[in-house]
Amino acid sequence: MKNKGVFICIEGLDASGKTTHAHRLVRNLRRKGFDAVYTTEPSRGEIGRFIRTYILQRKRRVPSVVEALLFAVDRVDHVEKEIKPALEEGKIVVSDRYVYSSLAYQGAAELDLRWIEEINRLALPPDLAIYIDVPPEVVVKRIRRKKSVMERLETQRRVREVYMKFVENGKLVAVDGNRRKDEVAKDILTVVLDFLKNYSNFQSV
Ligand SMILES: Nc1ncnc2c1ncn2[C@@H]1O[C@H](COP(=O)(O)OP(=O)(O)O)[C@@H](O)[C@H]1O
Ligand SMILES: [Mg+2]
Repeated sequence: MKNKGVFICIEGLDASGKTTHAHRLVRNLRRKGFDAVYTTEPSRGEIGRFIRTYILQRKRRVPSVVEALLFAVDRVDHVEKEIKPALEEGKIVVSDRYVYSSLAYQGAAELDLRWIEEINRLALPPDLAIYIDVPPEVVVKRIRRKKSVMERLETQRRVREVYMKFVENGKLVAVDGNRRKDEVAKDILTVVLDFLKNYSNFQSV
């Protein structure tokens, strides 16, 4: 059964501007009369909170397999509790990270991509997936500026390589994120509006 709404996800490296642009996209779509909502992974649910507290914030090293499984479980929770209900109401859901983050990050940690795909097989496929492309060298500088934990350049490079495979096979639409925020936001909005134009059974309210 087809969803009534539209499901969009925003992907990219750490500090590539996902949160900034997911929020801006929601604002811009609302201005155009669309009913858009922001959502994020890890989700706001209990499993999402567990991931934030015990893995992301405390930087506790857990095996990549455990990480991949936890994110997959949280994703099911996220889809069932937040994404599907909003889509049923005909909304545009903008998710700050989704399944490509698992593929890129845990894939970069050398887990088998097919296995990651398999454990995420039941996750609702997005209608449109956008990749904000920022060079690893640039995100590493932004991370330092933000004073959060510095992710190694080498890791960012490996993560980008996986993301780029999905750009090359057309699953992700790349937007050049290494420009002023306004320009990036404008490009993302154009990509989304073009997509919506061709997305038959969807209309602005
Ligand atoms: N186009 C841009 N140019 C310069 N800095 C940016 C740009 N986009 C985002 N930033 C900055 O980079 C940092 C990370 O942005 P954020 O949206 O939190 O990224 P993410 O959610 O991908 O980690 C923030 O301080 C933000 O203001
Ligand atoms: Mg963010």
